[in-house]
Amino acid sequence: MTVTVVDHPLVQHKLTIMRDKETSTAGFRRLLREISLLLGYEVTRDLELTTKMIETPIETMEAPTLEGKKLVFASVLRAGNGLLEGLLDLVPAARVAHVGLYRDHETLEAIEYFFKAPSDLGDRLVIVVDPMLATANSAIAAIDKLKGRGATNLRFLCLLASPEGIERFTKAHPDVPVFTASIDRELNEKGYIIPGLGDAGDRMYGTK
Ligand code: PRP
Ligand code: URA
Repeated sequence: MTVTVVDHPLVQHKLTIMRDKETSTAGFRRLLREISLLLGYEVTRDLELTTKMIETPIETMEAPTLEGKKLVFASVLRAGNGLLEGLLDLVPAARVAHVGLYRDHETLEAIEYFFKAPSDLGDRLVIVVDPMLATANSAIAAIDKLKGRGATNLRFLCLLASPEGIERFTKAHPDVPVFTASIDRELNEKGYIIPGLGDAGDRMYGTK
């Protein structure tokens, strides 16, 4: 089990602006997209390369290129889409899975309402994206579902995690490395990450 905290200064600076309750919906969305590029750099930094022959304007060369089948970004709706958009700028040929989940506000259980994914998940690296890992119910449910559909090589990318969420997630899925920009102090009694940034989906879309 590995947990990587991406402590790049630009990530931390942008995260601080996102946490600020005065940041507008437009600003929050823009920052999430920007930060996803930096997090995406880390989560893909050990992708395997092969080489292929190309012709530059000057000569022929054997040049590095990504090996294997296109990877899959699996977005946990709704807020996962904020990370997904930037990640698709980095890896435009990636395939996309959508896992629709919402938290029941009383029980904090993850309720599934949508699922669509490429059929050959077992042949691909699947990077699951959701800005928040709070109780970890949503992340665990998303990965249960993806594994049930054949995925074997997964990573989980979020923006904020709680210590409780990290512990539950890594117990449930010890084979899935976690990448996050911060592990915050704790969860409150309503399952919110403290100090956190509030409800990521609501802040992205201006809902409440
Ligand atoms: C948020 C967030 C995660 C989940 C995290 O989604 O985007 O999916 O909560 O909490 P957990 O770790 O306790 O499961 P929410 O259910 O609010 O749905 P939304 O993205 O549609 O707003
Ligand atoms: N989901 C969010 O969007 N924020 C939290 O703090 C916890 C769960």
